[in-house]
Amino acid sequence: MLVRTFGSAVFGVEAITITIEVNWIEGSGKDPLIVGLPDNAVKESLQRIESTFKTNGFKVPRTKVVVNMAPADLKKSGTAFDLPIAMGILGASEQLQNSGPLADYVIMGELGLNGELRPIRGALPIALQAKSKGFRGLIIPSSNAREAGMVTGLDVYGVANIGEVISFFEKSERGLTKIAINTREQFFSAQYDFDIDFAEVKGQESIKRALEIAAAGGHNAILIGPPGAGKTMLAKRLPTILPPLTLQEALETTKIHSVAGKLRENATLISKRPFRSPHHSTSSAALVGGGGIPQPGEISLAHNGVLFLDELPEFQRSVLEVMRQPMEERKVTISRARMAVDFPASFMLIASMNPCPCGFYNHPERECTCPPGLVQRYLHRISGPLLDRIDLHVEVTPVSFNELSVSHAQENSATIRGRVIRAREIQAQRFLTDPGVYANAQMSSRLLKNICSINQAGTSLLKVAMQRLNLSARAYERILKVSRTIADLAASAEIRPEHLAEAIQYRSLDREGWSG
Ligand SMILES: Nc1ncnc2c1ncn2[C@@H]1O[C@H](COP(=O)(O)OP(=O)(O)OP(=O)(O)O)[C@@H](O)[C@H]1O
Ligand SMILES: [Mg+2]
Repeated sequence: MLVRTFGSAVFGVEAITITIEVNWIEGSGKDPLIVGLPDNAVKESLQRIESTFKTNGFKVPRTKVVVNMAPADLKKSGTAFDLPIAMGILGASEQLQNSGPLADYVIMGELGLNGELRPIRGALPIALQAKSKGFRGLIIPSSNAREAGMVTGLDVYGVANIGEVISFFEKSERGLTKIAINTREQFFSAQYDFDIDFAEVKGQESIKRALEIAAAGGHNAILIGPPGAGKTMLAKRLPTILPPLTLQEALETTKIHSVAGKLRENATLISKRPFRSPHHSTSSAALVGGGGIPQPGEISLAHNGVLFLDELPEFQRSVLEVMRQPMEERKVTISRARMAVDFPASFMLIASMNPCPCGFYNHPERECTCPPGLVQRYLHRISGPLLDRIDLHVEVTPVSFNELSVSHAQENSATIRGRVIRAREIQAQRFLTDPGVYANAQMSSRLLKNICSINQAGTSLLKVAMQRLNLSARAYERILKVSRTIADLAASAEIRPEHLAEAIQYRSLDREGWSG
C-alpha cells in the first residue's frame, strides 16, 4: 500500500515541505530503496530504521520498499528524515493501523538505534512552514518542542521515542500533550533581564558616552587601548543599552540560531540582542557562513545584535575581507552548485585593539617600547575598507586605582538605554520613507547630503579641524553621520558646532601617528 508522510528541508532560514511516499510492492524481494536526491545521511536512514524496528518489535519488510522524496530535484540532507520515513514504512507495510492521519502532520526526528529521538536543526522554520501550509500539527523530538511551540495555530507535540509516535496514531491521535507556551509573555518579561550592567564599570564616562552614541545611531566602533583597560568589559555591555528587540526581529534572529543548531535545549524565542565574539583564529567560513549545506556564520548569528571582534589586528586579513560585502548588504549570500541561500546579517560591529604590539602607545603614564614605524604597520594589518566602515574610534585608558576604589553610584544601563531609545525614535521618523534605513549609520551619501546640512559656523569649524588634525576625506562623512546622532541624543533638529566638535574627537585612527 502507498502511504504519504511529510517532512521538511531547511534552506537558508526557510523550510520547504518534503513529501515522502512509501510504497510496498509485495513479492519483489529487493532491498529497500530511497529515491529523490537523498544524501548519504538520508540513505543510511534505512539502517537506523531497521535497528529501531528490531528493538521495538517491528520489521523492515523483506519485499521491495520504495521511498520517494519529492520535490525530486531538491537535495535532501541530514538525519532528521529518519522518523517520517520510518512512519511511512510502518504505514505502507500495514504494521501501523490507522495510517491515514499521518498526512495531517509534519514529522521530523533523527532516530537512535533503539528508537529514541535526537534533536534536529531548524525546528522553528519547520514549524512556521508547517503552519503556513495548513498542516494540523508537527511532531518533533521533545528537546525541540519549545522552540517550535512558539508558533501559534499549530499543534506541536514533543516526543522522546518512536514508540510514542506509533501509539499516538494507533490511539486516534491521543496520548500526547500539546506544547502550550505563552511566548509573548516570556519574551516581554525576559527582555531586560541582563546579568551585566554599565553600572559595574567604574569611571570611563567618555567611553560610555561614545558607546551610547554608537548604540543611538547604530554606528560601528573600535575601542583602542592597552591591556586591562576594560575594552572587553565595556563592549560586552553594549547589548544592555540597545533598544529591545521587536517580536519580528526576535523571530528572525531565533530562526538563524535554530537553523545553526545553536539554540539551547528547551530554548524558545531569543529575547535579547545577540552578542557574538568569535576568536581571532576563526576561519572565514565560520565568520560569514559556509559549508556543503550552507550554514550561517557568526555575522548572521549576530543578526540584530552585536558582533565583537576582540583584538582586531590579530584576525587574518583575508578573513576580515570577506565581511565587506555582507556589511554593505546586511545579508550574506552563499552559493553552491545547486542553490544559493541568503542569511540575514545586520549587526553592529564593535572591534577592539591594542594601540600597538607592546600595548602602550599614547599611554598617559607608560612608555611605548615599539620601534618606530611598528605602530603604523600594526594598524595596517587591519583591512582599510573594513576600517572605513567604522564610524567611531574610541581611545580607552585604564581608570586609576582611586576611581576603581570609589563607590559612588554609576549610571545604569536602563537609564542610558532610555536616551538611546528616544534618539532612535527620532531616526525612525526621519527615515520613514527610506526603505532599509533605520538608523543614522545606514545613511547613503545622498541621504547624508540631504539630511546633515550644517551652518556657516559648523562648516568653518569642520574645515579648521580637518586641516589641523590632517583628517582624510573619508573621515568627513563619518563625522557628519556621528554628529547627526549626537544632535539626535540632544533632541536638536540641527547639527550644531558642539555636536561636530564632539564627533571630530572620534577619529583617532585618521590622525597622524597612526595613519602615518
Ligand atoms: N572601569 C572599570 N571598572 C571596573 N572594573 C574594571 C574597569 N576597567 C577594568 N576593570 C577590570 O579589569 C578587568 C580587565 O578588563 P578587560 O578584560 O575588559 O580589559 P581589556 O581592555 O579587554 O584588556 P585586554 O587588552 O587584555 O583584552 C575587567 O574584567 C574588570 O574586572
Ligand atoms: Mg580584552
